[in-house]
This record gives sequence, structure tokens and C-alpha cells, in this order.
Amino acid sequence: MRIVHISDVHFGFELLKDKVEKAIKQINDLEPDIVVLTGDISLWGIHHEFRDAYETFSNLKPDLFAIPGNHDARNDGIKYFRLYFGKHRKVLKIDNAVFIGVDSTLPDSDDGYIGPEQREWIAKKVRENCINIIAMHHHVVPVPHTGRNMNVLIDAAETVEALTLHCHGGIVLAGHRHVPYSTKLLRTHIIHAGSLSSYKVLMPDNNYNIIEIGEGEISLKLRFLDLGEIEIGKFRLKPETPESLLKYHRLTSTKKVLFVSRRNACRTKIAEALFNRISPDNMHAISAGTELANDVDFLASKIMGEMGLPLTRPRKLSSDLLEDADYIVSLDEDIRADEFWDINTPKDEDECRKVVKEIDERVRELVRKILI
Ligand SMILES: [Fe+2]
Ligand SMILES: [Fe+2]
Repeated sequence: MRIVHISDVHFGFELLKDKVEKAIKQINDLEPDIVVLTGDISLWGIHHEFRDAYETFSNLKPDLFAIPGNHDARNDGIKYFRLYFGKHRKVLKIDNAVFIGVDSTLPDSDDGYIGPEQREWIAKKVRENCINIIAMHHHVVPVPHTGRNMNVLIDAAETVEALTLHCHGGIVLAGHRHVPYSTKLLRTHIIHAGSLSSYKVLMPDNNYNIIEIGEGEISLKLRFLDLGEIEIGKFRLKPETPESLLKYHRLTSTKKVLFVSRRNACRTKIAEALFNRISPDNMHAISAGTELANDVDFLASKIMGEMGLPLTRPRKLSSDLLEDADYIVSLDEDIRADEFWDINTPKDEDECRKVVKEIDERVRELVRKILI
């Protein structure tokens, strides 16, 4: 598969019209499967800039997959972007490649932002066993020689983690500061295109990227409009999520643990109290089941009270509670859960103390298991 990646065309007074026309001819000759345009189609987000861009790009033979840049979001320009270039967020599948176009713009601002809602959307759209190509305008990591090394997405850290976690065989295409650059972050290949046709060009010439996707690897070439082509390199695609990243993610994500039992609540209440006594700051346990009512429950309350951990009333078991939990421990074999603890209901004070000790050990194992 061949992808031509262009960016920052900047229709308006920044445009070098002869460059964009020349680029279209060159790209048509290359016969790519798709052309990805990573934003800044316009200069001021004004209607006639988008219309001129649309008319010019209608000479392009391959399909154009465009997303907006900060200049397109100026002056409420996103509505004109949509008028000529389709949705500002979009997905396209070609063979085993999934193109996911993301809108990193903020209205009337040069800053870039993906946000939690869009990150969740990306996570739903990526496909396992496919090459996922995420297109966005802004920088995910700083790009050198741009004059603005700090100019990254406001939520760059969360976005880098999300892309690397979810983006199986992942490539990120971006633009923005008119400097072509590529870097690999764990398994995610971040490729920036320079400016196709703006006079604000921080390179010897206007340029675009040619990306060939082969079996488990990509090759990247930088094509200057008038100075020819440079082979940047070949990169292997790695489908597995790096183990280190999963560990960091586990350590920082919150977890709601549910202990559940239909028959006798004292065991789940003991588990809840013991878990919350030692749990790390990002975890919380609750328990659900029957009411505390019989003699054993009162005995358990007494023992836990001695430990400074009074038992509270159990919650009523509901489907909402089960759905909301990140990890479920059941003390009844017939309840579906992440794990089952085979602990009998104690009958006297001695047994009750033994049960408390056993649950305490299991809870410590569980905390470590979820965390590490
Ligand atoms: Fe730009
Ligand atoms: Fe930009």
C-alpha cells in the first residue's frame, strides 16, 4: 500500500499555487492508494480558501482523506471544512489498514487537544491485526527545528499513552509546524509532513511524505517538490503492546473492586474492610449481598470492631453494581466473577477469626495481583 501524506497547504495569501499544482501532478503519477492531508488547508478558515482548495484538489486522482488543522478552526472555519472535506473526524478502511482521522483543533485557537472523549473514540475504532494509521494535525511529541519545541498537544501525555496502548501496528501522521520529521515512540511511528505549498517553509523546499506499507514494515521517503526524493528509512511495525507501558498504565489507573455474595454478607464485608485498609490510593472496594442479620454477622462485626474496622451495611446486589466494577470477587460459586474465593461461612468465634485471617491474606494477594 502506498500513502502520500501531505500537510499545511494553506490556501490563502500564504499559498504558492505553482507548488500545489506541481504536487498534484507528481502525486497522480505516483498512483497512491490514498492521500492523507493532515490539516491547515486554509490560512484563516475562510470560505473562499476552502473552496479554492476543494477545486484545486479535485484534480487529484486518488481519494483524499483530510482532517482539519488549527488554521482551519479559525473564524469558525470548521463548518467550511465540513462543507468541502467531509467530517472533521472519520474512519476509512483499505485492505488491512485503518485510517482514523482525528480533530485536534480547538475553536479559534492554535493549541491542539484530543481530549478523553476522542481518545475513547480512537480506542473503539482501532482494529487488532490491522495497521492503524491515526491522522491528526498537531504534534504529539516535540519536533526539533520548528522554532517552537514546546508546541505539542495540551494533552500530549495522555494521547501518547492512548496511541501506544491502543494503536496496534500504529502510525501517527501529523503536520502543523512545516517541518518533516519522524520518530518512534515505543512501537508508535510518528511521522510529520512539512508544508506542501506555504511560503512559510522551514526546509530547502516544500515537501511531502511517501509511505509504503509492506509485510510488517513501512518505508518512508521525503519528496521535495523541486529537489527530488530522499529515503528516510525502513521501520518494522510491532503489533504487541510494550509490557512496560501496560505496567505503568495499571499502576496509575483506578480500580473499583466488588466483593459479592448472595448467601452470607459477613465474608464480603470483611473483605471490603480489609481491602480498603491496605488498598493503594487508586483502588476502592465495595461489597454487595445479603443483609447483615444473623449471629455470625454480629460475631464478625465484633471481631472486626476489635481491629478498628467496623462492618457497614452491605449494598444490595444489582446489575449496575456488577457492570460498574473493574474487578469482581465472588464468594459464591454460581456468581460470574473474575475470581472465586472458596471460603465457608464461619459458625463460631474461632472459625470467624480464622476466616478473617484467611481473607486478609487473600486480599493482600489480590491487591498485588491487580496492581502488578
Ligand atoms: Fe500550518
Ligand atoms: Fe498548524
